[in-house]
Amino acid sequence: LKVLSVVGARPQFIKAFPVSNALRREHDEVLVHTGQHYDESMSGVFFDELDIPKPDYNLGVGSGTHAAQTAEMMQRLDTVIADEAPDVVLVYGDTNSTLAAALVTSKREPRLAHVEAGLRSHNWEMPEEVNRVLTDHCSDLLFAPSESAALTLETEGIHDGVYVTGDVQYDAILQARSTAREHSTVLDELGLQDGEYVLATVHRAGNTDDRTKLESIMTGLADAGKPVVFPVHPRTKNALEASGLWATVTDDENILLVEPVGYLDFVRLLDGAERVATDSGGVQKEAFYLDKRCVTLRDETEWVETVDAGWNTLVGADVDAIRTALQSTEPLPEKPSLYGDGTAAERIVDALSNDFGGRSSREAT
Ligand code: UD1
Ligand code: UDP
Repeated sequence: LKVLSVVGARPQFIKAFPVSNALRREHDEVLVHTGQHYDESMSGVFFDELDIPKPDYNLGVGSGTHAAQTAEMMQRLDTVIADEAPDVVLVYGDTNSTLAAALVTSKREPRLAHVEAGLRSHNWEMPEEVNRVLTDHCSDLLFAPSESAALTLETEGIHDGVYVTGDVQYDAILQARSTAREHSTVLDELGLQDGEYVLATVHRAGNTDDRTKLESIMTGLADAGKPVVFPVHPRTKNALEASGLWATVTDDENILLVEPVGYLDFVRLLDGAERVATDSGGVQKEAFYLDKRCVTLRDETEWVETVDAGWNTLVGADVDAIRTALQSTEPLPEKPSLYGDGTAAERIVDALSNDFGGRSSREAT
């Protein structure tokens, strides 16, 4: 098979890492980077440190309004897909890169396969909700990380091509954890001790683009009662600066602002954290995988199983709820096994092979 994979934003490089490795054992892959993320700390670092091939194409689209960014990606992707003529286009998650590739592919010959299908926040204010619903409804093959995600697809009338594979980010973190423990020096560099700090990330537009919410979150984090290490996403840095909050946050002695870190350093920071506070989709799951209590700075989540299991608390941007959850000492319940067994990437490759009648790349060409 010839598979054209499209990535563009930080979490997609991490999701592609186990899948590309499994895929390339049997099939031909063309890797396309839309250029949605482009800073060294948001893009280059992942290709340097993870065992993922360098992209065959970088479309260099960069930042812009949703319309401009998505439209530019669509035009450039259309040419690449026409030239490469893959059997299948593989997309990840719910970013504008995902939607652009889905729309282009659905009007061209190749099949469309979506990793992380069936997730819903039911919050249509989120650009990601629009992206994921539309992508699922354009897809021929849908790789759901859980039974509940597959059930969601069923209730939306998508009955064919759905596979429950587990979560590729679980595969990734299982593969990275011991390397991170062995090689990352981030704790020493930041003067942190295992188990004695909170790891925080914030970048969701609903939080960064609302000054009141952003300020409440920063106030809540400052009251965690222990140091908070906070790798700052560029969107959040811009928002803190534009809203006049940057100086207050940098001056706060409990909050340690750092540049976004590479995946191995991030996994090490997660592994050593006492708990996690985040509005990230991926980080909520990763906290669970590494046995950390998660405080989610949103009113809803797609990763509902982590909340149902008692390991994740939704606190929105409510300063009292953030403080309470960051200081809670209530024991955590027994941890269920969610989102697969760390073999999601292999299951995805098997499903792709079966969809094409078990062809390998050699048979396909
Ligand atoms: C995007 C995704 C979001 C995902 C996140 C992962 C969409 C709609 N959103 O959000 O679902 O959770 O990536 O991190 O696709 N910027 C830089 N350097 C970069 C990248 C971005 O400075 O390398 C700044 C720019 O000012 C840009 C802003 O961050 O305008 C937002 O970037 P963008 O890619 O539009 O969205 P994210 O907030 O990163
Ligand atoms: N991550 C990272 N460095 C950081 C912050 C996050 O490597 O400084 C990784 C993290 O391990 C996870 C992914 O980036 O795998 C999550 O990406 P992000 O929070 O940007 O996006 P989301 O998951 O919300 O779409």
